[in-house]
Amino acid sequence: MNILVTGASKGIGREIANVMKSVGNVYITARNEELLKSFDCSGYFVCDLANEVDLVKLGDFIKEKNIDILVNNAGEYIYNPLEKISLEQLNHIVAVNLKAPIYLASCAILNMKKNKFGRIINIGSISGVMGEAYASLYSASKSGLIGFSKATALELAEYGITVNTINPGWVETELGKASIEDSEFTEEEILDCVPQKRYVQPCEVAELVKYLSSDGAKGITGQSINLCAGLSVGI
Ligand SMILES: NC(=O)c1ccc[n+]([C@@H]2O[C@H](COP(=O)([O-])OP(=O)(O)OC[C@H]3O[C@@H](n4cnc5c(N)ncnc54)[C@H](OP(=O)(O)O)[C@@H]3O)[C@@H](O)[C@H]2O)c1
Repeated sequence: MNILVTGASKGIGREIANVMKSVGNVYITARNEELLKSFDCSGYFVCDLANEVDLVKLGDFIKEKNIDILVNNAGEYIYNPLEKISLEQLNHIVAVNLKAPIYLASCAILNMKKNKFGRIINIGSISGVMGEAYASLYSASKSGLIGFSKATALELAEYGITVNTINPGWVETELGKASIEDSEFTEEEILDCVPQKRYVQPCEVAELVKYLSSDGAKGITGQSINLCAGLSVGI
């Protein structure tokens, strides 16, 4: 089994790459070569997903390595009132959070269709399910992944390919902590709104990715799965 995890230089992606080593050959990608190099796996590919030349090269790498499991994890967050969002920010967030996962999936399914097996797992966000004030761009890009997963799950169902989106709540990573710092709330106030009163840990997301990759999860497709310590249920 050949696996590619995007955004695997740190955070959730790093943990997914670690856990997925027990499933097959893991390839990782991100921008920071030093961090990629420091991880023991089958190979790495340096890529800025916002750069179209890099993106096309990564698509070719996916075709060359016959990727069976694609984990679209890389993502960027932006906290800004709508009227302050620039066209540049709009293009950047959509490119990294939505356009890249769609393009990479389009490259991966060639091999998956041939093998009548494949897994595409997108890491969305609870902000794409519930909406997050001042993070409209982020929320919109993550909601897009849910629609994309549903449509392609239908399109690819007869080929044994499943497509799902995992929507984490607050996860204890650099991005999770920085997005709290950007907000008007303290960490304590944020965690107090989480029913389980805690961060989700990266390993919890990784274990769900592993399960969705398994044969036992072949019936789960087109789903938007919230992994948020109860945040989406209410307070
Ligand atoms: N942490 C949370 O609370 C939380 C909650 C909900 C959803 N999520 C989602 O979970 C995913 C992982 O987040 P995380 O918390 O692990 O974030 P993180 O610690 O900031 O890691 C993000 C990863 O994405 C890569 N990345 C970012 N921009 C990139 C770009 N332009 N091109 C290529 N790679 C890029 C980073 O690598 P380089 O910097 O080396 O490029 C890094 O490996 C994201 O999609 C995020 O939206 C996180």
